[in-house]
Amino acid sequence: MTAAIIDGKALADKLRARTAIHIRHLKAAHGFVPGLAVVLVGEDPASRVYVRNKARQSEEIGMRSIHHALPADTEAAALVGLIKRLNADPGVDGILVQLPLPPQIDPAGVIDAIDPAKDVDGFHVINAGRLATGAPTLIPCTPLGCMLLLGERHSALAGLNAVVIGRSNIVGKPVAQLLLAADCTVTMAHSKTRNLPAVCRGADILIAAVGRPEMVRGDWIKPGATVIDVGINRIASADGKGRLVGDVAFAEALDVAGAVTPVPGGAGPMTIACLLQNAVTAACARRGIVIPTA
Ligand code: GUN
Repeated sequence: MTAAIIDGKALADKLRARTAIHIRHLKAAHGFVPGLAVVLVGEDPASRVYVRNKARQSEEIGMRSIHHALPADTEAAALVGLIKRLNADPGVDGILVQLPLPPQIDPAGVIDAIDPAKDVDGFHVINAGRLATGAPTLIPCTPLGCMLLLGERHSALAGLNAVVIGRSNIVGKPVAQLLLAADCTVTMAHSKTRNLPAVCRGADILIAAVGRPEMVRGDWIKPGATVIDVGINRIASADGKGRLVGDVAFAEALDVAGAVTPVPGGAGPMTIACLLQNAVTAACARRGIVIPTA
């Protein structure tokens, strides 16, 4: 069997184009453009690339991008002070603090300081609680992207066995909540899970979000399953530049799965597209505007 490749880049392009239409509508009909504030602390090279892409893509679709870069030795109090100013700024609709933060800053305290109505990452405990209880909320971007990618293959997920590998607050836990809300039977697997390959072989839907290069082998995958690879890992390559691979051994997965997302070009592009959509959602919700759905 050769699996279908789910094109995350094409889907992200479509989603961004739709968000751009929403922004043009908000400008024309309501006289404002949503503003997204992105805060980077320190010099982490991967984070700098992500933040640059977020700023560029938000500007490309007509959103206002507000960028704050703080030095690596910034104290938590200074970062929280900036967040409070962004919370109070009526021109800021979404606030994203890029993770990871330097070791002297507790990320939980920082996330807690963000106004839940501007929490476009959906990481605040209020938004996590709303997601867990089925209330409308800002949904974390990568999990939301995973669900939209699944939508490319499945018109309904009810009754399917979904296995999520990884239990992070950013991906594993929220994507499990979304799969449960879609009536999947959900198993959360993690580093202490016994006989992980056998657990994975029971999955109709397999979400890999562990950050371990090519950990999921072809013989872990149920024939015909849909595999969403959230991992982005840089490994050594012959030319010395390194190469990106996911958490799934892609070539092996192609022989067994029904559909699989590539790395790069799968879940990654969807994360930013969903962030931009969340910024529009937050901008509308704060002003009581109903978002056009088409
Ligand atoms: N670092 C890696 N992924 C993310 C994300 O989705 N949001 C933020 N804020 N930081 C991240």
